[in-house]
Order: sequence, then C-alpha cells, then structure tokens
Amino acid sequence: MNLMEKAFAFVKDFFASDYSGHDYFHTLRVFHTATRIAIKEKADLQIVQLAALLHDVDDRKLSPQTCAEKTNARRFLTENQIPPATIERICQIIGEISFADSVIPDSLEGKCVQDADRLDAIGAIGIARAFAYGGSHNRLLHHPDIKPKLHMTKEEYRNSNSTTINHFYEKLFLLADRMNTPTAKEIAQSRDRYMRAYVAEFLAQWDGID
Ligand code: ADP
Ligand code: NI
Repeated sequence: MNLMEKAFAFVKDFFASDYSGHDYFHTLRVFHTATRIAIKEKADLQIVQLAALLHDVDDRKLSPQTCAEKTNARRFLTENQIPPATIERICQIIGEISFADSVIPDSLEGKCVQDADRLDAIGAIGIARAFAYGGSHNRLLHHPDIKPKLHMTKEEYRNSNSTTINHFYEKLFLLADRMNTPTAKEIAQSRDRYMRAYVAEFLAQWDGID
C-alpha cells in the first residue's frame, strides 16, 4: 500500500463505529472537497490531503484524551516516516479547523481543509448531518418557544441544549460568510441558498402556511 492507501485504511478503521456525524464518509467527503479546493487554489496537495484525512481522528468529542497532542494523527504520520516538519504542519492545520475555536488558519493548506470541513456542514449533506446529530443527542427538531442564541461563548456552544432548527441560525447560516478561499466561497453560495430555502419550507409547514 502507498501512503495515501494506508491513510484511507487507517481512517476507515478508526471511524468504523461512529454514527454522530463524524463517520468515515464525512472524512472522505472532506478529502474530496479539500482536494478540489486545493487544486484550484494551488495549495500543496499532499499536506491538504493528509490533513483532510486525519482532521477528525483527534477530535475533542471522539477522542478527548488525544485532542491536545494529536496523538492519533502523529502516530500514523510517524509510523509512515513523514518528516517531523511536515508532521508539525499537518498537526497545526488539524488544530486550526474546528469551528468552535474560530481560528483562521495560518497556511493556505489549512484554509482549504477548514473550508472543506465547513462545506460539509451546509447544503443537503449539512441538513442531514444536523438532524442526525440532533437525533443522536436527543434534541427536538424544533420548538417555537426556544429561540436561537447567537454569539455564544465556546463553553455555552458546547453545552447548549438547543433544537436542531436553532443550530441552523446559531452555526450553519454563518458558515458561507466564513469561507477562507474564493473557491469555497463560490461552492458555499448554492449550498447556503438551498439550506435557507429548506428551513423556510420547514417553518412554513410547521405553521401550516405552506
Ligand atoms: P466539526 O466537524 O467542525 O467538529 P461538529 O462536531 O460541531 O463539527 O459537528 C459535526 C456535525 O454535527 C456538523 O454537521 C454539525 O452541523 C452537526 N452539529 C453539531 N452540533 C449540532 C447541534 N447542536 N445540532 C445539530 N447539529 C449539530
Ligand atoms: Ni470534520
């Protein structure tokens, strides 16, 4: 197996039992979207592809004990003889991409991967992931009396027990404006439009005025 094949096998095995929205196919989609963005933006493809494949293996929710050190990503990269400086670049990118931390990545490669991860949270796929997440966390689809809370702190965001419809206002509708690269900004436009039309339709049907 070459390096990329090994990386695919590693993440496939790692995410074998996750149903919370961080499954192998999320990683695969981020890989493909990040590759597409990186080619257009002329970023270093190997860095982008490895960072995309490894971006969730030390996620705070899935692997809290390895999150700070990026132990899982580091182990894979070290075992595959990736030079230490490259490992540092990749781990920096992985650390930068989480939304709750709202960091703008330093490197073009980091920007590509963060954009790809955010693109997977919006549009048709994003809608499905939001409701899947809500279901797995016992959240209501919608509650007319529970209003969205904007400008939450990191802690409030993490502990919030809002509805899934509110998640669109609290996070998903904000993402199109936060894309780093022109390529991702363009892809985000139609995904954002589709998602807003979906929520408008949802609320109209909720109120019986569709
Ligand atoms: P990231 O992939 O940036 O770590 P998260 O772990 O926050 O993102 O979210 C993973 C998926 O679950 C995303 O599609 C996101 O929109 C969705 N999600 C996260 N929090 C909520 C929530 N409170 N309600 C509904 N969906 C959520
Ligand atoms: Ni992700």
